[in-house]
Amino acid sequence: MTGLEVTVGSLALRNPVMPASGTFEYHPDSPPPFDVNHLGAIVPKSLTLYPQLGNRPSRLAETPSGLINSIGIPSLGLERFLAEVLPRYEGLTAPVMVSVAGYSPQEYLTLTEKLSAVSLVAGIELNLSCPNLDQHRMPAQDVGLLRESVKSARSVTDKPLWAKLSLEVTSIVEMAQACLESGADAVTLINTFRAMAIDSQQRRVILGNGTGGLSGPAIRPMALAAVWDVSHAVDIPVIGVGGITTVDDALMFLLAGASAIQIGTASFRQPLTMVRVIEGLTGHLAKLGVASIAEIIGAGHLS
Ligand code: DHB
Repeated sequence: MTGLEVTVGSLALRNPVMPASGTFEYHPDSPPPFDVNHLGAIVPKSLTLYPQLGNRPSRLAETPSGLINSIGIPSLGLERFLAEVLPRYEGLTAPVMVSVAGYSPQEYLTLTEKLSAVSLVAGIELNLSCPNLDQHRMPAQDVGLLRESVKSARSVTDKPLWAKLSLEVTSIVEMAQACLESGADAVTLINTFRAMAIDSQQRRVILGNGTGGLSGPAIRPMALAAVWDVSHAVDIPVIGVGGITTVDDALMFLLAGASAIQIGTASFRQPLTMVRVIEGLTGHLAKLGVASIAEIIGAGHLS
């Protein structure tokens, strides 16, 4: 025992730190500069039912305190993912939470059903909030579609089911409550914000898709408030995500009520960020003489 063990619903994690979907890929032929089994969980890039190429370039634009991306979920599709990608994770001890993006509740159902039949899939994270899919209503912004999508996935799996939401809504509490009522085991808060950038000299819109999703430190205070609001109002575990870069950032999210956290944009600049945050959490417990990180979760209070 390290004192970092947490649970997210029924899922036990060795520590609360994992990658945000789309920001960390594991391939045994080019392993990362740390042991992936040190992570609380692994969350691959969102998978779609059918193969797709993603958006046209440019796909990235840096901002002073964040990153705008319009990747568009390039995906091998379910069949190739099952045959080629999942076997790479065999033998790892970190649980694999597979992120899926559907174009309809039926697609969420099919993806969840097929994936959860595979023993090395620990659970499913429903990406209900990708800002870059054309001609597509975002389920996280439509409470009816949100309920239908989560219920469809829930109807075909007993494995942990997380719903990743957008803060671009009137009430994140209402959306999280809808996820709870529809059978989600946890909500992942939050996804990126729709954003854009223009090269003023060339008068050219930078991203090939026009707009993209903003991530990184720019969105961290908003993500933190979302975690606080939901964890104080809805009886559902929260996974916090949005600009977490340092151990202090991670602690803020845990204090606000997150049972676990995801790190994304920071890993692009420093691939060791996740393991440094894990080490920092261990150091924090030792310094305070606290036996378990569980004592920190939700311990933030108004003055
Ligand atoms: C993409 C997906 C997301 O969920 C997100 O927040 C940003 C980008 C994408 O692949 O385009």
